[in-house]
Amino acid sequence: MKIGIFDSGYGGLTILSAIRERLPEYDYLYLGDNARAPYGTRSFEVIYAYTLEAVRYLHSCGCRLIILACNTASAKALRSIQQHDLPEINSNLPRERQVNVLGVIRPTVEAVPSITRNGHIGILATPGTVSSQSYVIELEHIAAASGRSLTITQQPCPMWVPLIEAGEHNSPGADWFVRQYIEGILALDEHIDTLVLGCTHYPLLLPKISELLAGTGIRVVAQGGLVADSLSAYLMRHTEIAQDLSHGKSCTYLTTESADKFSTSASLFLHQEGIIATTVTLA
Ligand code: DGL
Repeated sequence: MKIGIFDSGYGGLTILSAIRERLPEYDYLYLGDNARAPYGTRSFEVIYAYTLEAVRYLHSCGCRLIILACNTASAKALRSIQQHDLPEINSNLPRERQVNVLGVIRPTVEAVPSITRNGHIGILATPGTVSSQSYVIELEHIAAASGRSLTITQQPCPMWVPLIEAGEHNSPGADWFVRQYIEGILALDEHIDTLVLGCTHYPLLLPKISELLAGTGIRVVAQGGLVADSLSAYLMRHTEIAQDLSHGKSCTYLTTESADKFSTSASLFLHQEGIIATTVTLA
């Protein structure tokens, strides 16, 4: 059985890449719902429905564990899928044919309090993730439990995912939107010392973000390494799941859009030649 990695589009490749570096031995199946990206401006009902379709599809392809490598899907759909859908999907299946689903927000919020020095944290995310308040709720929960005071500020960045999906993230035109949202969040709290890239697409804008923040001392947190570490720890705790996973070191790419377009873009994003994708239909 495989590990499925799901995102609305190309962003989850940043998570896949970090996970494969940390856990190269397993077999992976990546699914990008590029035909329906971006998810970040869609309603709860639509994101939940699309994400559930993806989970069912990846399970039907032999995934024992699925990572929602998308903050928007993790914020809007993960809880409902875990509580309402997985019990039904897994009923009457032997353990080794069942599926578990994890998100990317929890591993991130668990790490961020030890990265910030002054407790002022900025969250850059899609409008859907921001409106869900998932980061604020989970970070405040951790702050309350540890007795530490955290000041959390959010900035929706609606133009960043469309720019990246269109392959325009290195273009001069992207500079304007990077500056707009970074300056926007720092205007809301000038004391921010840690900026969380709360969308798996955003690391592709990291060169431009780092250039803009050069000399400020502000730390920028990308999620790949955090999610990879958390998955590794999860598999050590859940040996019953780890033992169901096959060790073929393979990775298969699926997209709901053009396979050629995905193959070209994914090769660029992963700095890896020869990625071949297959087009699939979810609904
Ligand atoms: N990579 C997704 C995330 O982490 C992007 C969501 C979108 O499609 O807008 O939120």
